[in-house]
Amino acid sequence: MLVVAPLREAGHQVKVVPTESALNFVGAPTWEALSGEPVSTSVWDNVDEVAHVRIGQTADLVVVAPATADLLGRATHGIANDLLTNVLLSTTAPVVMAPAMHTEMWLNAATVHNVSVLRRRGVHIMEPDSGRLTGTDSGPGRLPEPEAIAEFALAQVHDEGASLAGLRVAITTGGTREALDPVRYSGNRSSGKQGMALAEAARARGAKVELIMAATDVPAPTGVKVIKVESARDMQNAVANAYDGNDVIVMAAAVADFRSASYAETKIKKSHAAGEEESAPVIELVRNPDILAGLVKRRGSRTTPVLVGFAAETGDENGTILDYALAKLEHKGCDVIVANEVGEGTTFGQDSSTVHILVAGSDQPQRYGPAPKRESASAIWDVVEQLIPSKDAVESN
Ligand SMILES: Cc1cc2nc3c(=O)[nH]c(=O)nc-3n(C[C@H](O)[C@H](O)[C@H](O)COP(=O)(O)O)c2cc1C
Repeated sequence: MLVVAPLREAGHQVKVVPTESALNFVGAPTWEALSGEPVSTSVWDNVDEVAHVRIGQTADLVVVAPATADLLGRATHGIANDLLTNVLLSTTAPVVMAPAMHTEMWLNAATVHNVSVLRRRGVHIMEPDSGRLTGTDSGPGRLPEPEAIAEFALAQVHDEGASLAGLRVAITTGGTREALDPVRYSGNRSSGKQGMALAEAARARGAKVELIMAATDVPAPTGVKVIKVESARDMQNAVANAYDGNDVIVMAAAVADFRSASYAETKIKKSHAAGEEESAPVIELVRNPDILAGLVKRRGSRTTPVLVGFAAETGDENGTILDYALAKLEHKGCDVIVANEVGEGTTFGQDSSTVHILVAGSDQPQRYGPAPKRESASAIWDVVEQLIPSKDAVESN
């Protein structure tokens, strides 16, 4: 209910379309007072205005908050048995849903399936908060705070400009896995969230996005081409294939520096021979290729593709995060280094991060955050898109 207030405070006209059930919680007069607009729930109200399609057609953004399990089910199946579901079927605006329900309902296979189908169709579904629910239960399923919903929702519209229209970008994401034997690998804690946020932001700005995706905890956004890879060497091949034809290559994946020197074709056995209970294999490591350095070399003196590297850095007694990031920018020879502040509980797997954006030849690094990775992705694209030489050519076409 309170999502109406921050949206109106941000200067937007808000038309509330409650379901019949929603009116049991908050009546139509309250909605009308909050939104300053008349409220209806039925497709049979204001038939002369063809409200069942007009509201969806004219909206710049559709926000469903709270989205009940029932609504998610109806939206997934294209059911149009009230005004809200008609709006959802007739809009081409971005759709944001903020689910809220008891944990059992949220984790039920039907809801999980519905959320995944809707996300694949491009619906922006927030993760519910975890905490106290109605009654005495507690767990995931709680409606996020109204300001958080409004901020998430507005970000989908603001990002929908087309500043990257006509351009192609390749983004690596996730953490590589280096196989030891058919069942084991060495890996890292990268969640892939930053790369996904960059891909989503680039797509929202109109770019054609190729996502080179190593192991990750989060689904790829809709509308991007996904190439799945496992090891650093797989990723190197995929990036090499993506080199031609892309205007920007963003290396946001966590690529393992080392891999096992040898791969055991059969599972390495825990020996049971007498006297060998305590023995364990010693694994020799070798260096993985430096993919970004390879790209810089291949590009030579040309200016495209724009090459963006990531660094996970901590400051220490020998230098600050910025000192290390600057050294990496110079050493790698790429155009931009985005340095993530890492440390206990920061960046890896989190939804927020603090980033420093360093551009070659500029002595004005930008610090951004702590902010949701979605927002830092937008800040990164604001910088990177200025460096694309073909952008002016595309825009003047
Ligand atoms: C007191 C009460 C609270 C409810 N809370 C929720 C809820 O938080 N999430 C949910 O998915 N369903 C909840 N339900 C069940 C919904 O009311 C029911 O599924 C209804 O069909 C939702 O309709 P709607 O999606 O059109 O609003 C609740 C029901 C009652 C009686």
